[in-house]
Amino acid sequence: FDGDVYPNEPMSRHTTYRIGGPARFFVRVNSVGALTGLVDVCATEGVPWVAVGRGSNVLVADGGFAGVVVALGRDFRTTRFEDGRFLAGAGASLSSVVQDAFRRNLGGFEFAVGTPGTIGGALRMNAGSRDEWISSRVVTVTTYRPGRGLMRLRGDDIAWGYRTSSFAPDEVILECELAAEEADPFVVRDKMEANLARRQQSQPLSEPTCGSVFKNPEGASVGRLIDELGLKGTACGGACISPLHGNFIVNRGGATAADVRTLMDHVRARVQEAHGIDLAYEVRL
Ligand code: EPU
Repeated sequence: FDGDVYPNEPMSRHTTYRIGGPARFFVRVNSVGALTGLVDVCATEGVPWVAVGRGSNVLVADGGFAGVVVALGRDFRTTRFEDGRFLAGAGASLSSVVQDAFRRNLGGFEFAVGTPGTIGGALRMNAGSRDEWISSRVVTVTTYRPGRGLMRLRGDDIAWGYRTSSFAPDEVILECELAAEEADPFVVRDKMEANLARRQQSQPLSEPTCGSVFKNPEGASVGRLIDELGLKGTACGGACISPLHGNFIVNRGGATAADVRTLMDHVRARVQEAHGIDLAYEVRL
């Protein structure tokens, strides 16, 4: 088997939140063959399984996951540049593409500077800023789905939305082609620096978080709503609503998933009460 198997692996080691109970099996697959073999067996045997990237947009329960967590290793981590496009493995980091584009005098990825996570994760959730998304760069995506096999999709044939995509829950993203365009490196650098400076100022980037907790409701900023309700700084156990940005809940050390859930429930109830808005989760629970 071309991979590594870790039984009862704490997911707190594999999430940016540093939270999460054990996965029954955490398996790092290093090749497409290992991945397809593993998920096919899980699917036919009825074993719950889930693919993860860098764990930067998930809150794993304290009880862990009673199944197989699949992480993408070696062969999925490469990126190449060919004919004006990046060919990126789903397990490569988004930031490696952002930096590589800059080095090659290419533009189009400045919005993603400082965004953690893998290419696969970024595609599944259509990562981006408020109004620029990774989907606008996608030429093709190769996926695998047990029972359906390998598929090569054109970016235009995928339904993309604000932090959503039309990939099936059991469809694993393997790699993609991303379009880049020639750009003035000084302009690219200025955009990257401005984006990063703005985020460093307004988001707790160096603390363990899952990024934004909720999606912005139509026409509103959930961070501002939470701020206006005076909820920043509210704590529960080791978790705290960031004093820097209302839509971030940080792990100040030893936070449990239950601590974070308590704060999430509190925020949702307060926003519902004050504005009649039912907040949708941006983080995957
Ligand atoms: N604001 C406050 N108080 C706060 C937080 C924000 O008043 O505590 C105000 C800001 O001053 C600003 C407005 O709310 O006027 C919007 O805030 P911000 O610019 O920080 O953007 P956001 O809508 O909160 C979105 C994305 C971020 C992305 C930033 C920057 C969502 C849910 N969040 O945040 O994405 O980094 O724009 O482009 O769409 C993520 O998806 O994990 C994420 C961090």
